[in-house]
Amino acid sequence: MSWWRDAVVYQVYVRSFADSDGDGTGDLPGITAHLEHVADLGADAVWLTPFYPSPMADGGYDVADQCDVDPLFGSLADADRLLAKAHELGLRVLVDLVPNHTSDQHPWFREALADPASPMRERYLFRTGRGEDPPNGWTSVFGGSAWTRAEGDEWYLHLFDTTQPDVDWRYPAVHAEWERILRFWLDRGVAGFRIDVAHGLYKQAELADHAGEPSDDPLFHAESSPNAWDQPEVVEVYRRWREITDGYDERVMVGEVFLADLDRVARFVGPDLLHQSFNFPLLAAPFDARTWQGLIAASLATFEGHGTSPTWVLSNHDVVRHATRLGGVAQARAATLTLFALPGSPYLFQGEELGLEQDTLPPQARRDPIWLRSGGTVEGRDGCRTPLPWTAQVPGHGFTTGMPWLPYGEQAVTRNVATELADPGSTLQLYRKALRLRRELQDGLAREVEWLRVEGPVLALRRRHVDGSALVCILNTGARPTTVEVQGEVLVASQAGVGSGASGTVVPPATAVWLCEAGPAL
Ligand code: NOJ
Repeated sequence: MSWWRDAVVYQVYVRSFADSDGDGTGDLPGITAHLEHVADLGADAVWLTPFYPSPMADGGYDVADQCDVDPLFGSLADADRLLAKAHELGLRVLVDLVPNHTSDQHPWFREALADPASPMRERYLFRTGRGEDPPNGWTSVFGGSAWTRAEGDEWYLHLFDTTQPDVDWRYPAVHAEWERILRFWLDRGVAGFRIDVAHGLYKQAELADHAGEPSDDPLFHAESSPNAWDQPEVVEVYRRWREITDGYDERVMVGEVFLADLDRVARFVGPDLLHQSFNFPLLAAPFDARTWQGLIAASLATFEGHGTSPTWVLSNHDVVRHATRLGGVAQARAATLTLFALPGSPYLFQGEELGLEQDTLPPQARRDPIWLRSGGTVEGRDGCRTPLPWTAQVPGHGFTTGMPWLPYGEQAVTRNVATELADPGSTLQLYRKALRLRRELQDGLAREVEWLRVEGPVLALRRRHVDGSALVCILNTGARPTTVEVQGEVLVASQAGVGSGASGTVVPPATAVWLCEAGPAL
């Protein structure tokens, strides 16, 4: 069985994990020094968000050189040291690949902009405007037009920030460049790639206008702007990349395919395409057992049906933390424990293991281009990107000896690694316990999920174990305790108060529990 199929992957948001030099920004040596936290949590791999040279207009997703490290974060030697330490701890390392666009400070784009006759123009999407208007009416995911004027009536396309010009994947030299970048990191020992906006890259050849209004929700931007995303040609890029990664041992590619329709997402994965894709519908789902059962069942059928496994994502650096989105830490703990019971790969976002909620930052502290491009009308993503609190100590919380690049919220005083390690009831201890159990049970568990009950606010699922027992997970999304007619030994629960009576198991509100159901008597 491939290691990645059920791997737990921990997302390290590099700027906010640990700062080794007191400048207030996280860096690679800081990560290396704190990797034990991730190993002790029970993760199999870390995914590092971009640490490449970048003007940081979009948190590093504006890459100026794909094969180096920004001095803010360290050096290539620091990246090597991080890899070595991770491997010592049994952790694999995924890096972020950003093929849809570069920074406007990338040497290719600087040259393209400096000289309209440069062949570097072919690597981007320069087009002539319509009078004073841009070449078409496409909008940026970050708001406003997707076009910025280069000079005269020439414009360039950027589906994100002005500083992130889109690459033209219809131009062959681009393919060779990214194949070189892929090999550069594979040769250095990374276990694979998280591919940024993997459904992007190709645009409809004529860049034709869309009918109707564009959505400002990234999950639906592709639906409302179909010519800008998910073109048939894009999967051929991944077919080629799969040949490359298959030439190395046990590497993996997971695509950020930001599409709401799972059948469209599934086109990107398979034995000769991407190994896995993110699976985002749960990000838009309320805390409701029936909705969750529907989405989980559809994800399992879709991804397992395409010869791969689903990924499970509740939080990342782009969305409101799930403790806030789902209505509280209790709901978040229950939701997470339910996902841990499933086959597939949970992708965890740093800080969710502490039960962190979304922080609200004072307007002057916000850095997200979404906030800046909307003229201060859309709050943006800074509230989930505040640094990881390691201790209760203000102002640096063990993250930095300087001033953190984004300010901490009050929750860091009680929700931090040191405090939670000392508290058996903490969210950190829940994650550690559940992931340890998951690892212990994993090998013998069937991939098939049986639905024992889906009724009102309750779902109960079972996975049989080869030893004759079974893992049962019950989730109660309601506001009242409920009794479910299943019995077994309680392995772990997201809250105290699970009871066992003659008629079944009593599950408190907003709680999930794992039971070990004994096998048939011999
Ligand atoms: C998706 C990344 O997760 C997000 O942070 C970034 O802003 C966009 N892609 C553009 O690269």
